[in-house]
Amino acid sequence: MKILAIETSCDETCAAVTKGRRALSSVVSSQIEIHRAWGGVVPQLARRAHEERIGPVVAEALKKGLGLKRKEGWEEIIEEGMGQIEAVAVTYGPGLAIALGVGIDFAKKLSLKYEKKLVAVNHIEGHLLSAWVQDEKGQVEREPELPALALTVSGGHSSLVLVERIGKYELVGETLDDAAGEALDKAAKILGLPYPGGPEIEREARRGDKKYLELPRPMSRSPLLNYSFAGLKTAFYYKVREMEEQKKKERLADLAASFQTAVFDTLLKKYIKAIERFKPKSLIAVGGVLANQVLRERVEKLGKEKGLPVYLPQLRSLNMDNAAMIGVAAYYKVKRGEVVEKLEELEREARAKL
Ligand code: KG4
Ligand code: ZN
Repeated sequence: MKILAIETSCDETCAAVTKGRRALSSVVSSQIEIHRAWGGVVPQLARRAHEERIGPVVAEALKKGLGLKRKEGWEEIIEEGMGQIEAVAVTYGPGLAIALGVGIDFAKKLSLKYEKKLVAVNHIEGHLLSAWVQDEKGQVEREPELPALALTVSGGHSSLVLVERIGKYELVGETLDDAAGEALDKAAKILGLPYPGGPEIEREARRGDKKYLELPRPMSRSPLLNYSFAGLKTAFYYKVREMEEQKKKERLADLAASFQTAVFDTLLKKYIKAIERFKPKSLIAVGGVLANQVLRERVEKLGKEKGLPVYLPQLRSLNMDNAAMIGVAAYYKVKRGEVVEKLEELEREARAKL
């Protein structure tokens, strides 16, 4: 079963063709350049960019994934490719409402016109399933042993999820305010670094002293598995504000390293608590922030210490928003019989829960 998947929940226009766990293609058109000038994602601009790009991005995914010959005319390419597709999958939430709407409308039109099943996928389930995505040849065959405990950290969500089986998830901890990626983005802004801040902080932090600035590790002593990053960001803001401009520049790397370490320490402390409590058979770590080499290594090390296999997405690009993960999640949903019965019932859900 080949699935055409669409994802437009934030600032990336994504489409993919998947077959089972395999990504036959995965196309991502990033809007970073558009939003950078504003220091963050501007919803109206995101919607317009999604509207302009969705057709060509879907055509590109079909062309690459199905090896179509036709080179030009995105409408004709879609027309040619849809015959080989069995279902259309789309992210319904959580995310930016007006951005989600663009993908949903497009998916509905395709489903109606070509009489294909429509599958609505939760964005966080997509991120979880990114650990299952294989390349076009079906590599890697291994899959996470279940139950698995997943750390999902991105710009919009940070949570600990117990994956009992595919389709059965228990949210065991989450951020009470800002997501981890959002906190990194805000800290970068405080330091005058461009959007998105996560990669900028990582680059600076490489040559920095992580002990330079003393920062809190919010809620680390609380027995609950939830965390909070707003207080950490505020503490950072006031400490940086007290510094002279010159010093801030000189100590940029040290400030970035101190903040990044505080965020990762907080995430890991709760992750360890959750592992001890739920005793999973494997660890999964997914979401945009897992593109960070330091965090990846810390999770790998934790797995070794606990004697648990660790599953990160095969390709670093699968950590960030993409449609391949949506297609793979949709494959399992179709197997469970979870398809959209009536098109009008599918609506965007900006605050959708897992
Ligand atoms: O999963 P994602 O692409 O989108 C959401 O669903 O939010 O995650 C984006 C987030 C942003 O906050 C970005 O700063 C962060 O992931 N990020 C990173 C790195 N690359 C992206 N954070 C830390 N280190 C990175 N290398
Ligand atoms: Zn995401």
